[in-house]
Parts: sequence; structure tokens; C-alpha cells
Amino acid sequence: MTLYHATVVDTPGDPFAGDPADALRVDADGGLLVRDGVIAARGAFADLKAAHPDEPVVELTGGLLLPGFVDTHVHYPQMRAMGGLGMPLLDWLEKCALPEEANLADPGYATEVAGEFLGELVRGGTTTALVFGSHFESAMDILFAAGSDVGLNLTTGLVLSDRILRDDLLCTPAEGLAASRRLIDRWHGKGRLRYAVTPRFSLSTSDEMLDVCGQLLGPADGDIWFTSHVNENLAEVQTVADLFPGSAHYIDTYHRHGLVTDRSVFAHNVHPTDHELDLMGEAGAWTAHCPTSNSALGSGLFPLARHVRHGVGVALGCDVGAGTGLFLLKEGLQAYFMQQLLGAEGLPLTPVHLLYLATHAGARALGLSSRVGDLSVGKDFDAVWLRPAPSSSLAVNLRHAADPTDALARVFALSTAADVAGVWLRGEPAFARP
Ligand code: GUN
Ligand code: ZN
Repeated sequence: MTLYHATVVDTPGDPFAGDPADALRVDADGGLLVRDGVIAARGAFADLKAAHPDEPVVELTGGLLLPGFVDTHVHYPQMRAMGGLGMPLLDWLEKCALPEEANLADPGYATEVAGEFLGELVRGGTTTALVFGSHFESAMDILFAAGSDVGLNLTTGLVLSDRILRDDLLCTPAEGLAASRRLIDRWHGKGRLRYAVTPRFSLSTSDEMLDVCGQLLGPADGDIWFTSHVNENLAEVQTVADLFPGSAHYIDTYHRHGLVTDRSVFAHNVHPTDHELDLMGEAGAWTAHCPTSNSALGSGLFPLARHVRHGVGVALGCDVGAGTGLFLLKEGLQAYFMQQLLGAEGLPLTPVHLLYLATHAGARALGLSSRVGDLSVGKDFDAVWLRPAPSSSLAVNLRHAADPTDALARVFALSTAADVAGVWLRGEPAFARP
């Protein structure tokens, strides 16, 4: 066993459900006892040390120990496609994202990208992710194998499209069904890997392909996940309405195929109608809010208050390559900015909301909150140690924080991936800043 000595901060509660302060838990001089990758005890360091005097101690002095971050929307094949500013969604896809995604047909290229992608996720403190995959089966085998080697909690799947995109990214519904089934057989449920059925968006998937997705997702008590995009950009929403004249709205294009469930995570949802939010809320589907992407592509200001009113869960995604990096705390800050800019329609976010959105909310969206998302006894020791360089603005501000909530506010305002000093995946050190 190993005893960790740190200031431990997490959000075992839901700050959207009551007083946000009640959702926060802080152990200022805390201890976590970890056995076989799982938290065996938590409390005051002095008490744990007295009870386990012979266990080795890891001193994480200075900064904060947080749960590993949970990213619910990030694109593996866009690792090399960040920074394409100045375009709305459909232009950006055609000019920036899709040409790069085509490169992953080459397994050598995909292997390099997978290494860069997973390395950057872990160095930024993300330990669990719902990853939007590649259109190529070989590139998905490479990602699953690399994710398993790293030990990341990874849910991902083959991206399916059968129309409108460039030809080399398309497959027929029959080909998509067969390739997805092979990948599920090879990878789903192996260690920390799970499969997510992933049509790119209804714009690029016919009803036949969405029907295949329904077959793959399986019965209501299954454990395969579902993800796609919805209501991101007004031109996209209009095109989908034109392509599906029989559907009541964008969410209905998925719902008609049994794809709106409590295992469904929809990215963006910037422009939903109340009917769509009702349907998602009733089904228990989640939205992955991707604020730097929405800002970079000019997609719009996310209606968080309406999601909360309709009972739709919201977590965070960085949406790289449209998003501006893989560090999830930056998404938290941008989510805060966006709600401020919405004025009276915004939902003012506290630092407790931001930590919840970056950790526990994502674990709930992925159905993994019994294992990850906070640092309770019985959960996997997936953790991030944020410890700024001594003279940095963050270090100065943490020293002058009035209380733990104030410290968290300063972390969200100022931290970058360079402040990540250590990351653990199920108790194994996955990154240590030299
Ligand atoms: N909609 C369909 N594909 C994509 C994508 O790759 N990124 C974003 N932001 N939206 C999409
Ligand atoms: Zn996306």
C-alpha cells in the first residue's frame, strides 16, 4: 500500500442539485491510502499515518490533489489539426479536420498520432475520456492498443459516415456494421476499454447507417456507449432538417433509431429546442459542452441554464481539434466566461461547479461514477497533482487564497498543463514532471 499526503479536493456531490458549497470536499492536510490502484482509506494524514506507520509515504506538498479529469468529447484524429481559426463548422470540417482525418488510413501515421494524443491527454491530467475515433478500423485498433498500454479509462469507437463527406471517409452501412462488430469483439470490456457507437453526425449518416448504430448499441441494459454531435451550428441544423424532412428536430433523427438513451452523450447542443431538451432529459442523455470549440468556431453561447431546467446532465469536452487544447481546466474557465457573457440567461458558475464539470459530471455521463470522478474510498486512484512553479502567478495566488473555494477559483483562472506535476492511473504513476 502507499499513503499519499496532500491537500485533497473533490466534488462528491452535485453542485447543480443544491447549494454548490455542499458538493465540495476538502482535506487540507489529507491522506489517501491506496491499495492495488484503489483508494482504501481517506482522512486526516496524521490519523492514517498512525494507523499505517509502515506504509511508504508519497509527499505531495504544495498545490492540490484533484480527481483525474474526465473529457467527454475529444477527437483522436484531430491531434494535428488544432488552431484552424476563423471558420464556421462546415468550412472548418472540409478545410481543416477531414483532410487530416484521412491521413489516419496509414497505420504508421495513426500510430504516431495515437502516441501524441494519449501522451498529451495524460500530461494534461485527463485520466478518463470519451474519444471520438477515426473512420478507419486499423486506426481504431491502434488507439485501443495504445490506450490499453497507457492505462487510460477509454471509451471510443469507429466513426461512421456514408454520405456528404469526402469519399475516403465513407463506408456502407453493411461495412460499418461488420467493422464495428469486429472492434467490439476485440476491445470492448478489455481492462479499462469500452466501445462507443459513433455516427459522425446525422448530416453525414443516412437512416440506414443510423439503423446500424441502433443495432450496435443493443438492448437498454447493455454497456456499449453512444456518442455523436448535435445542434452545434445553425447552418448544420438547417441542413439536417432538409435531409430528414420526416424528423421533428435534430435529436429526433437519432431518437427514431433508439439512440437517445442514458448511455448517449451528445456533443455541443448549442441550439436545442425545448422539445429536444425534454426528450434528452426524459431519456437521461447527456450533453458534452465544449466551450473553447464553440467560441473558436463561433458556434454560439451554450444554454446551460436551459439544460439544467430540463434535467439534462452536462459535462465538459475539449473537442480538439476545433477546441484549443487538451487541458480540461481551460474548458472550465471558458464555460464560466460563456455563462457570464450570456448575462441574465447565463448560469453563474462557481469554482465548485467547474471542478464538478471537469470530473464527477463526466464520470456520470459515462456511467463510470462508481469507479472514478472523485477521490472517495473504493474508487480508482486516478488523480492529478497540480503544483505550480514557485514564482508563477498561480503559486502567488494560491498562497493568498482565502479558503479552498477561493484556491479553486485561482486554479481555474490561472492554471495550464505546465502546472500538472503528477498524474496517476489506477495507482500507477503515469506522468511526473521532472
Ligand atoms: N460535427 C461533425 N464532425 C465534427 C467535428 O469533427 N468537430 C466538431 N466540432 N463538430 C463536428
Ligand atoms: Zn466534436
